[in-house]
Amino acid sequence: MMNIANMGQSFVRASLILAFGAALAGCGAPGDAPAARPPLEGARIGGPFTLTDQNGRTVKDSDFAGQYRLVYFGYSFCPDVCPVDLQKLMRGLAQFEKSDAARGAKVQPLFISVDPARDTPAALGPFVARYHPRLLGLTGTPEQVAAAAKAYVITYNKVEGSAPDRYLMAHTQLAFLMGPDGKPLALLPLDDPRTDVDEGAPAAVAAELAKWVA
Ligand code: NI
Repeated sequence: MMNIANMGQSFVRASLILAFGAALAGCGAPGDAPAARPPLEGARIGGPFTLTDQNGRTVKDSDFAGQYRLVYFGYSFCPDVCPVDLQKLMRGLAQFEKSDAARGAKVQPLFISVDPARDTPAALGPFVARYHPRLLGLTGTPEQVAAAAKAYVITYNKVEGSAPDRYLMAHTQLAFLMGPDGKPLALLPLDDPRTDVDEGAPAAVAAELAKWVA
């Protein structure tokens, strides 16, 4: 949505590609089948957080031990990017659940707000309910949100609007699949130009989940 966010996103992607491209380059002889290693294996992404869900309950990352987590940062007032991304991700998760209910149930989707001033639990409730029945909307104090974002290499900043309450939040646009141990596995596809909300995007998300969720 905003240039700053896009730059941050490109930087993170470039860094990840460099880090993992280098790590994988030494693997195997030419002609070997590609190793089924998670692309984010070993990346320093994720970590402890304490936040509050849309029902006012305190939620910690350790509450999800043993579960895969689909983690996306954004804000409910986002005019365009977040709603589209959430549709792609949650329709993808729904497709995955439909194809394999047992594995689908192992994935906990989390939407973490970067706009805690407006995203109160009460505001997040109806927002997350639009996308998936199990989607948790998480918010907290500015410090709690900042700590969670930092752990997930997400940057965000306020962009003033036409009125004090009409501001935008520029933010990194990434969706992470985290493993049952809380370690990162893969980025989920959001902006493949060949796909859109109704056509390929949910299928691409479902395919990526199928690849890594055991
Ligand atoms: Ni957004």
